[in-house]
Amino acid sequence: MKHLLGTQDLSKDDALRLLDTAYEFSAVAHRHVPKLPTLRGATMVNLFFEDSTRTRLSFEAAAKRLSADVMTFQAAGSSVSKGESLKDTAQTVEAMGADIIVMRHFSSGAAARLAHSGWIQAGVINAGDGTHEHPTQALLDAATLRDAVQDDPRGKDLAGLHVVIVGDIAHSRVARSNMWLLNTLGAKVTLVGPAELLPEGVADWPAEVMSDFDAALDSQPDAVMMLRMQNERQEGAPRVSLTHYVRDYSLSSARAARLSTHALVMHPGPMNRGVEIASSVADSAQSVILDQVRNGVSMRMAVLYELWGARS
Ligand code: CP
Repeated sequence: MKHLLGTQDLSKDDALRLLDTAYEFSAVAHRHVPKLPTLRGATMVNLFFEDSTRTRLSFEAAAKRLSADVMTFQAAGSSVSKGESLKDTAQTVEAMGADIIVMRHFSSGAAARLAHSGWIQAGVINAGDGTHEHPTQALLDAATLRDAVQDDPRGKDLAGLHVVIVGDIAHSRVARSNMWLLNTLGAKVTLVGPAELLPEGVADWPAEVMSDFDAALDSQPDAVMMLRMQNERQEGAPRVSLTHYVRDYSLSSARAARLSTHALVMHPGPMNRGVEIASSVADSAQSVILDQVRNGVSMRMAVLYELWGARS
């Protein structure tokens, strides 16, 4: 795999291999010295045109655990403010030695553009492009689900699992990447959100679509994945009032009490406590939100290992 740009085109074999590799790498965190020499000599560059806490830091942690060198670029404070283009920025970091570029960008398709432009030779990992895809988030979410339902998850898919994804589906790259990957792994996906926050063409996606969160909970899903409202991607006034959103789409403690005892509460972060999820639910025993973060490091180790192995 030369690049990782999305989950829509990720084969089941590739997804299972990444999940299995991440599972093996997860043991590294428990070592006295949590480091492997696997990527010694490699340089990974974080190229972030949008803010991030989890993705940027976990790619950095993953690269360091594999002994790669790490450089970090953030658009804020860079020469982008002086008009430097994506092409010139990418060629500049490659000239400094980048073998793998991890890019977050506000434009859908930006990672594919960089990967296929011919501007650079480095492998490209999409760390979130506009509303399009966030593949490593979906992979770490699948790893979290697999860990929860299988004693030994290696080689296993997610057939038979039902995951409900709730919130601002229209603007969520996390929803899209999860839907494609969960579908590939055999899980059933239900997308839930107000009509104003469902994207055009959603009826053609491989998912059940609902606007009634309480009705979706009647089906006793195995996991509920809560999403924040992506206000930064909405033009003009909010499409849905906050009061109505919280009333109809928040995972409140009353709604969480309706979940079956085995059901997982997930959130990719950052959370808006008291909006899409009650604080007590985020901190409850059924919440695996910090497991998602932990799995993010081992999954990103697996993706870096995969791309480093594929270099020409
Ligand atoms: N889940 C996620 O992408 O979080 P960050 O925006 O903090 O990277």
